[in-house]
Amino acid sequence: MIGAGGIVNDAHLPAYKIAGFWVTGIYDIDRDRALQTAERFDIPLVYYSQEDMLARSPRSVVFDVAVPGGQLLSVLRQLPDGCHVLMQKPMGEDLAMAREILELTRAKNMTAGVNFQLRYAPVMLAARRMADAGLLGDVHDMEVVVNVFTPWDLWTFLATAPRLEILYHSIHYVDLVRSWFGNPKRVLAKTVRNPRTPSLSATKSMIMLDYGDWKRVHIATNHGHKFKDSQCSYVQWEGTEGALHAVMGVNLDYPKGRPDTLSFAKTDEGWQTLPTQGNWFPDAFVGSMGSLQAYVAGDVKTLPTSVEDAIDTMRAVEAAYISSERDGVPLNR
Ligand SMILES: NC(=O)c1ccc[n+]([C@@H]2O[C@H](COP(=O)([O-])OP(=O)(O)OC[C@H]3O[C@@H](n4cnc5c(N)ncnc54)[C@H](O)[C@@H]3O)[C@@H](O)[C@H]2O)c1
Repeated sequence: MIGAGGIVNDAHLPAYKIAGFWVTGIYDIDRDRALQTAERFDIPLVYYSQEDMLARSPRSVVFDVAVPGGQLLSVLRQLPDGCHVLMQKPMGEDLAMAREILELTRAKNMTAGVNFQLRYAPVMLAARRMADAGLLGDVHDMEVVVNVFTPWDLWTFLATAPRLEILYHSIHYVDLVRSWFGNPKRVLAKTVRNPRTPSLSATKSMIMLDYGDWKRVHIATNHGHKFKDSQCSYVQWEGTEGALHAVMGVNLDYPKGRPDTLSFAKTDEGWQTLPTQGNWFPDAFVGSMGSLQAYVAGDVKTLPTSVEDAIDTMRAVEAAYISSERDGVPLNR
């Protein structure tokens, strides 16, 4: 583990405990955080430096990097050629940095994945299986709606981040949509700030992913919504034969969360809740690490969240920010 912050404690390590993945050691520039995390999760080694970590790591390890996006390049540069690495999203702070990261992983011949774990949340896997089994018919509508209160002050590095909501949060939904429909033709977006958090950059977004005239796909988020009875956090798919509604509970009480649920409705019939087990936090993190391990071990032929795929999620995020600045048609005089 490189990084011993919030997400490592809330999701990575609880997931690895469930899965039985063995964590050989941990390093953080803040040694106290590494020591506390090691104690909490019975991790045998706390390294003094990244060099110390490299000297004591067998070649077979996966380096699990969970540091802020702006720190990724400097951490990756120090890792050995040919190693295996799972890096936290975002893949850098913008598309230019993402391209540098991609080039670096290619030049160093790394097996590298980005931790886009929402695809592996139990309700998302179940939704996928139902769609693949034809239960929805032709899926022509997908919407992600999140109206919640997110405690952004948990992340000190976000206090000055020029890009916030889309880059650090909606990026998961952009990636999820891509896992269903591939790359959109165009992205239209507007991301705006909240007067209740004037020191932060934009925390509310509307993103429309253009898949032509027969699909409506959008992401709508408001992370400053403190009105409890109207808070919501869901993904909904509509097909010609049926619909699915997945609640992402973690956003409703971050990071503790509430349960994820999945409901199904056949056309013209009522919704029924399906018996799913597990939640985005922490269970999905078993999938992002497990799929990389399975790929490295040769058990599977593809790595769905490899850097080669993740770069397209970063391209879509970049397109959203460009669209937010320049798109829209001014009214006629
Ligand atoms: N669902 C998700 O996938 C999800 C959720 C939350 C955060 N994240 C991502 O995880 C990353 C970390 O977030 P967090 O919530 O843990 O933040 P955090 O601020 O709680 O922790 C970051 C940790 O990284 C350490 N660090 C920074 N630079 C380092 C370096 N060069 N080497 C070693 N350690 C270093 C810091 O000391 C700190 O302990 C962010 O990029 C964030 O986007 C992902």
